[in-house]
Amino acid sequence: MRKPFVAGNWKMNTDIASALALARDIADRIGRLDGIDVAVCPPFVYLHAVADALSSSNIALGAQNVFFQPNGAFTGEISAAMLKDLSCTYVIIGHSERRHVIGETDDLINKKISAAINNGLLPIFCVGELLEQRKAGKTSAVVTEQVKKGLAGLCTERIQAVTIAYEPVWAIGTGINATPEQAQEVHAMIRDLLACLYDKTIASNLRIQYGGSAKPDNTAQLMTQPDVDGLLVGGASLKADDFASMVETAVKIKTGSN
Ligand code: 13P
Repeated sequence: MRKPFVAGNWKMNTDIASALALARDIADRIGRLDGIDVAVCPPFVYLHAVADALSSSNIALGAQNVFFQPNGAFTGEISAAMLKDLSCTYVIIGHSERRHVIGETDDLINKKISAAINNGLLPIFCVGELLEQRKAGKTSAVVTEQVKKGLAGLCTERIQAVTIAYEPVWAIGTGINATPEQAQEVHAMIRDLLACLYDKTIASNLRIQYGGSAKPDNTAQLMTQPDVDGLLVGGASLKADDFASMVETAVKIKTGSN
């Protein structure tokens, strides 16, 4: 039985005051829920303050990116050890905005995943196709290649630290989410691929989140899909009410509890 996992990706939003207020609000509302893992991923510069605001809750802290080198002359970069130092549990790697806006490659993403795991961080590894790739019937090929290249060289023990987030690029920030059936189809394909690359136990234990215009009114339908284990939430995670209600819906659907 996979524990549901909902994470909020705040992207390049908030300021110090609103980041703290949002973290406190989320911690007040859902900071004691059982049966689900919840994380928020603020901008790097607010991690330290948000860690304090979450310290008496069950909400975990995640970063939105990491560099693969341990230290040295890499101006502007942040190492995995630094994130551990700031109490991060998770780190988002390979987000579509980093692939398509910043230009990250599968090879770089692979190095980051490896460095994160080596330092005890749990990667949230993002994959997903562009609209033209979906229209050309290439979704499965694109996602398969991203998964294979991103996880290349990871042994069966280390892969268990990973959560995969399927985020179709055309659904991110557009208000047009993948239908529950579209999400389920790709999640099941990823799980089958993991069974081929590793084994059935690993495939059935690994969590796969959906991301892309997830919001309170589509959470129940998405979470009802058997291979959708959670959500990676962008815009809706900036509103404590919306994020809390999505987390509550997710845990209710997956565990039958309230
Ligand atoms: P939205 O929920 O704003 O579409 O963003 C999804 C996302 O990119 C989460 O990482």
